[in-house]
Amino acid sequence: MAGGRPREPSSTIDAQHRALFDQLHRVMDARQRGPADAALELAEFQRQVRAHFADEERMLAWRGYPDLPEHRAEHAAFLAELETMDGDLSAASAAFLRGWLVNHTTGSDRRYLEWTARAHPERPRPARSRQAIRTET
Ligand SMILES: [Fe+2]
Repeated sequence: MAGGRPREPSSTIDAQHRALFDQLHRVMDARQRGPADAALELAEFQRQVRAHFADEERMLAWRGYPDLPEHRAEHAAFLAELETMDGDLSAASAAFLRGWLVNHTTGSDRRYLEWTARAHPERPRPARSRQAIRTET
C-alpha cells in the first residue's frame, strides 16, 4: 500500500473540499455566539485552507497541470484576503468566503479535474473507478 508513488489524490482533495465547507459553516455558526468563538473557528478554517491549498498545488505539480501558476495565484489572493479577517467577521466577509469557495471548487477546481480526466485517463476519478471495478466483477 505504501509505494513510492503518491496516492491517488482526488479523493483526498474532495474530502478536503467537504471539510472546508463544514468548517466554514462552523465559522458562520460561531459568528452568532460572538467574536471570541468566531476567531477560534476562523483560525481553524485558515489552517485548513492553507493545508488544502498546499496539498492541491502539490498534486497539480505532480500531474503537470499547465495552468498551475494561475491556480496558485487564485489561492494566494484568497489566502491574503482570508488572513486579514478575524473574529469580528462581517456578514459581507462571511458571504465572500462562502462565495469564493463555491466558485473556486465548481470553477477552477472543476477545470483541473476535467484536464486530469483527459491528460491522465489511466487515473480515473476514484469513486467512479471503484464503482466500475465492483460492477465489472
Ligand atoms: Fe484550488
